[in-house]
Amino acid sequence: MVTAVHTLESRAITHLMTVMRDASTPHEAFAAHARRLMRLLAEEGIACLPHTRIEVTTPCGTFVGEKLLVASAVCAVSIMRAGDSLVEEVRAAWPGVRVGKLLIQRDEQTAIPRLFYEKLPADIARMHVLLCDPMLATGGSAMMAIDALLKRGVRAAFIIFLNVLSCPEGIARVHAAHPAVQIITCATDERLNERKFIVPGLGDFGDRFYGG
Ligand code: URA
Repeated sequence: MVTAVHTLESRAITHLMTVMRDASTPHEAFAAHARRLMRLLAEEGIACLPHTRIEVTTPCGTFVGEKLLVASAVCAVSIMRAGDSLVEEVRAAWPGVRVGKLLIQRDEQTAIPRLFYEKLPADIARMHVLLCDPMLATGGSAMMAIDALLKRGVRAAFIIFLNVLSCPEGIARVHAAHPAVQIITCATDERLNERKFIVPGLGDFGDRFYGG
């Protein structure tokens, strides 16, 4: 189990994130760099699922490593639309992973989120969930998504929330309500601005990834 907030740190993350943060990066380059970064994030999320130690025979000896324990009981859940981009990287890393979708949109004026659509596997209550949303801002959408999962019987300790960028406000809100939920992020920025965007952030992830 990882600690409450696990930050992915590497030269690759810094490099990819710098290109993504740059407001002059065009849509296509943003999407390409975001995909590369999210593949690393997806791999980390998968690696943080329960594993067991296993000894393998290499061509030259033996090696004690780890093997995924819960291969048949994992669901990647997208908070649409931006979360779809991250779920695709989980699927690229692990083609057989189950997939669920939640459509939660925040009102442009009030930033209050609303759940419009939910499509989750019938047996999700027994599963570990990789909850995918690239941006953890106010935490409103995350809270609504976690509530939807808990209502379906998912255990909070079985939820790993993956995001590209987070901020202290969002992390604090999710953790106050759901301390057992693990968060894996690539960076935690300073704060939210008056429009509830992360500062310095990278702008609207969905618009930049999908081209508007
Ligand atoms: N969603 C985004 O895409 N960007 C932010 O800064 C906050 C929420």
